[in-house]
Amino acid sequence: MRAWIDYYDSPHTIYANARHRDVHFKHVASDIVGYVPSSDAIVVDYSCGEALYAGMVADACGKLILAEPAPGVRARIAALFSGNPKISAVTLEDVAAMPDGSADLIVMHSVSQYMSAEEIDAALKTFRRLLKPSGTFVLGDVLVPNVSAVTDVLTLLRFGLADGFLIAAAASLVRTFFSNYWQLRTSVGLARYSEAGMLAKLSAAGFSAVRQPKNIGHNWARMTFVCRPV
Ligand SMILES: C[S@@+](CC[C@H](N)C(=O)[O-])C[C@H]1O[C@@H](n2cnc3c(N)ncnc32)[C@H](O)[C@@H]1O
Repeated sequence: MRAWIDYYDSPHTIYANARHRDVHFKHVASDIVGYVPSSDAIVVDYSCGEALYAGMVADACGKLILAEPAPGVRARIAALFSGNPKISAVTLEDVAAMPDGSADLIVMHSVSQYMSAEEIDAALKTFRRLLKPSGTFVLGDVLVPNVSAVTDVLTLLRFGLADGFLIAAAASLVRTFFSNYWQLRTSVGLARYSEAGMLAKLSAAGFSAVRQPKNIGHNWARMTFVCRPV
């Protein structure tokens, strides 16, 4: 769904302020570090976004491939991490061209909701091919059906309260309501999966998957799956 990639390449209002953006990426990086299997692991963060704390993940692994489809975001992460020899910023097409069995860990967090059925199926096929037999694919922030936008609103406010950006979070919700995010959310939509539906999709793609008790990041109404190739 190109419209969502263009949205993330625009000056959007998803992050309430610099502090929200900062703590979001710190939480995500810290959770990803928990999945890194070894200090020489090859890790792919697929549609990584701004990835402000990718340095933390790189410190824990051998090589970190940051894949991002939005060209402006990708240029920023390439510049930010140009001095870190463990990190490369690449396109999704570059990931699709990687050799079989070349990754120990692939993470795709908060992306499945923006993908068409064809896009997610193609990505899962690529991940299955790229993973070493001992590798792991972690799929995070999967939206479930029947959880309304109100839950997302309350979750952001709770996050803002806990991490010191409550007023900015409230203001950003008003801004976001009048932004093209809501137009896109209602016109293009967000993909949602039941736990059983996603497990079936992952199984069809050649993974044995288990839902984790806690989602990556701050939104506990969403799902994370740890998937191993079978
Ligand atoms: C909410 S951000 C998540 C970024 C990061 N993974 C995180 O957890 O903060 C969504 C990301 O998905 C990317 N994206 C949007 N639509 C996509 C699509 N159809 N296929 C692949 N990536 C997409 C955007 O460019 C953006 O980087």
